[in-house]
Amino acid sequence: MKEPVVSFYNVSKSYPLYGHIRGVKNFLFDFPRNLTSMKRERFEALQDISFDVYEGEKFGIIGRNGAGKSTTLGLIAGVLAPNRGHVVVRRRVSPLLSLGAGFHPELTGRENVELNGVLLGLTRREIRRKMDEIIEFSELGDFINRPTRVYSSGMVARLGFSVVAHLDPELMLIDEVLGVGDIRFQRKCVEKMKSFKESNVTMVLVTHSVASVMNICDRAMWIDNHQVRMMGNPTEVVEAYAAANGVSIDTRAVNKSAL
Ligand SMILES: Nc1ncnc2c1ncn2[C@@H]1O[C@H](COP(=O)(O)OP(=O)(O)O)[C@@H](O)[C@H]1O
Ligand SMILES: [Mg+2]
Repeated sequence: MKEPVVSFYNVSKSYPLYGHIRGVKNFLFDFPRNLTSMKRERFEALQDISFDVYEGEKFGIIGRNGAGKSTTLGLIAGVLAPNRGHVVVRRRVSPLLSLGAGFHPELTGRENVELNGVLLGLTRREIRRKMDEIIEFSELGDFINRPTRVYSSGMVARLGFSVVAHLDPELMLIDEVLGVGDIRFQRKCVEKMKSFKESNVTMVLVTHSVASVMNICDRAMWIDNHQVRMMGNPTEVVEAYAAANGVSIDTRAVNKSAL
């Protein structure tokens, strides 16, 4: 068995429940006590999650909205810390660019590519060598020289995916990139991800696309209600997930080139 690149040991992650203030006046009336109780009330986004992702594996994560998929990626990327348990990441991880989180809004697209390349440990020369390819793939045209704060969410996602896919991270994190771009760009992303299938890069892919999970991933994990419901063969996991949500899909009919 290959070495695990990512290991989650009984990981729980909760967020403070700040949304639960009932009436500002009442809240302020007993401010210290309310503040304490507010801090105590937390929402568990992940409960006692354990899994490993192995070297070179393409690992898919599926689940309903709010299940805890992005939280899982945030923990791998190190932008979130667990409240309980341990997260161990043994490779150079790509920034969470598909969320636009790794971009500085005042820097241009080009400068952001350079910044992320440096953060990934590449030399200036390596970055320059890949720059044209990144820009071309992102299809941003002249926008590449404008600050990313003027980008649409689709443009941010396009540049984010392009950077992640071209800067050779050892561990690639991709969060629902297929949900943002237009259909032609989605196709390009899928083809690019398929091209990694034979490479040694480790990939953790969050997606709502059943076809992508089946066509790209070696293994899949279904997160349901903040816990791991099932893990294993992508087709079997997808079938169980669809069935549990009252959707019938014929996985045998899923085309190799389907999005
Ligand atoms: N920063 C945050 N503060 C409070 N709650 C959050 C935060 N981020 C996510 N959550 C909550 O945690 C749960 C899991 O979120 P997320 O991991 O984004 O789910 P998914 O990516 O599967 O849709 C959701 O119910 C969401 O509302
Ligand atoms: Mg998400």
